Amino acid sequence: MAFLKLNEVSFSYPRQDRPVLSGIDLALEQEGIAALVGPNGSGKTTLTKLMVGILSPSAGEVYLEERSLRNFSLAQIGRRIGYIFQNPDHQLFCSTVAEEIGFGLKHRGWPLDAITERVKFLLDYFELTPYRKAFPLHLSRGEKQRVAMAAVLAPEPAFLILDEPTVGLDLYRKKLLGDYLKKIARLGRGTLVVSHDHSFVQNTADRVVVLERGRIQGCEKTKGQETR
Ligand SMILES: Nc1ncnc2c1ncn2[C@@H]1O[C@H](COP(=O)(O)OP(=O)(O)OP(=O)(O)O)[C@@H](O)[C@H]1O
Ligand SMILES: [Mg+2]
Repeated sequence: MAFLKLNEVSFSYPRQDRPVLSGIDLALEQEGIAALVGPNGSGKTTLTKLMVGILSPSAGEVYLEERSLRNFSLAQIGRRIGYIFQNPDHQLFCSTVAEEIGFGLKHRGWPLDAITERVKFLLDYFELTPYRKAFPLHLSRGEKQRVAMAAVLAPEPAFLILDEPTVGLDLYRKKLLGDYLKKIARLGRGTLVVSHDHSFVQNTADRVVVLERGRIQGCEKTKGQETR
């Protein structure tokens, strides 16, 4: 069973002459790492927003675990799919880094000591401990990206969609992120990562979906597939 399935999905923004996406058929399994690549403006971000219900298709249907996404509230989708926006400024809203990372856990009713432990682990993994009391929006681009990642990863959602997660990350942090995604993939969690970073995609993803001018042009396997 596909975790997410798009069936003949098309989408147009209001007041635009031609659709941004046309006739998209795509199935994503709950295991493994898929990458979504394509030129600027090809519709990658729009496609991910359709997958998490921020946008609704103009035609066609998106299914989450075989149920139409139209039957889910945004909160229900958010409990199954962690979504990282292309711009972390759209994601961060708490007054400290530690609060930001723990927010989703608190919201889900985790006990305080479990939240503290999980936040401590993620602060440490993403090397954010010195900034735990800082205001998230005052951090550097790469630091904000890491806070957004840690916050979305904290509750361990079943599936992750990351829109350009390597922007602002140095080589070492990119490797840490790739290693983390591979680790959670081994635990049976799926990821879709939108990226222009060819080497990150080759080293991290099992499968690459190519989008051009709003249509899927093909799916490829990567080198990473052989080495895992
Ligand atoms: N809110 C919006 N209203 C109108 N048009 C939009 C809106 N958001 C995006 N578009 C248009 O839809 C097309 C696809 O945009 P989208 O952001 O999905 O592309 P992308 O593949 O993610 O690009 P990038 O690589 O630059 O992130 C672009 O032509 C863009 O101008
Ligand atoms: Mg985009």
